[in-house]
Amino acid sequence: MTHRLRHLISLHGLDRATMHRLLDRADAMRDASAHGTRRLDTLAGRTVLNLFFEPSTRTRTSFELAARRLGADVVNFDIASSSTNKGETLLDTLHTLEAMHLDALVVRHKEAGTPEFMTRHAMSGVAVVNAGDGNHAHPTQGLLDALTIRHHHPDFSKLNVTICGDILHSRVARSDIDALTNLGVGELRLCGPQTLMPAPSDFPECRFVESFDEAVEGAHAIIMLRLQKERMAATLLPDEQAYFRQFGLDSERLKRAAKGCLVMHPGPINRGIEISPDVADGPQSRILEQVGNGVFVRMAVLAEVMGR
Ligand code: NCD
Repeated sequence: MTHRLRHLISLHGLDRATMHRLLDRADAMRDASAHGTRRLDTLAGRTVLNLFFEPSTRTRTSFELAARRLGADVVNFDIASSSTNKGETLLDTLHTLEAMHLDALVVRHKEAGTPEFMTRHAMSGVAVVNAGDGNHAHPTQGLLDALTIRHHHPDFSKLNVTICGDILHSRVARSDIDALTNLGVGELRLCGPQTLMPAPSDFPECRFVESFDEAVEGAHAIIMLRLQKERMAATLLPDEQAYFRQFGLDSERLKRAAKGCLVMHPGPINRGIEISPDVADGPQSRILEQVGNGVFVRMAVLAEVMGR
């Protein structure tokens, strides 16, 4: 029996049993939904606050749906009209919101470390869930990607998974690496332009592959990442056409992968830059399945950290 998590800040070092327990719970939510049980009362009377200091489409919507489907009340803190713009500190904002009796805070922030900071300053009993902090972590994305892969390939030890693109700036890549490592993936390959790659010594569990053709060879799942221009110094910006030729996933390249290779992307996608439209919309694409799984994973995580 593993301990219940009180917060979810990162997947780094999470034990395999806990990983599978969260994924099993997400699967149970998906099964219930498929059988017509959309709404549960697990979190009835509890309150979840979505605190997004950065733009988000999928993550915020799916956290909101997840909380509502568990019967919780949800408040979306609108940053554009908040007092943060009037100079209020993060701590004052936190204590003000807490005075309204919250049970969980879902936080996205451009500074790595903000959700962890909140766990140290939040009132006891308030759970903090990281919805993406800088280039540090995006744990629910790591879990939903693992759930999507596990659904098709239950035995991670037999899998080659490739992550390609702007890994340097990607919190998704970090959480995917943590998730897949915790689950015992066979081989994890990282590929991308040299200027957008982290130091290999920071990821000893991964195989760094320079050529994307080679990285695709025999892969069972390929996770493509967006070029995160908003996090890049102008000098790092590659020419988009040259980028697509070298690191874009098109149907020709995909033929090198294992039969039925899963094509994944956390979204938002840049069509024609990291992935061709026919592959993004093609039969091997799992991109919308990932979005759907996001709701079930977030239900599982909220039920976990808000459980009594
Ligand atoms: C990602 C993010 O915000 O980290 N999007 C997401 O949550 N699905 C990836 C990205 O912005 O490229």
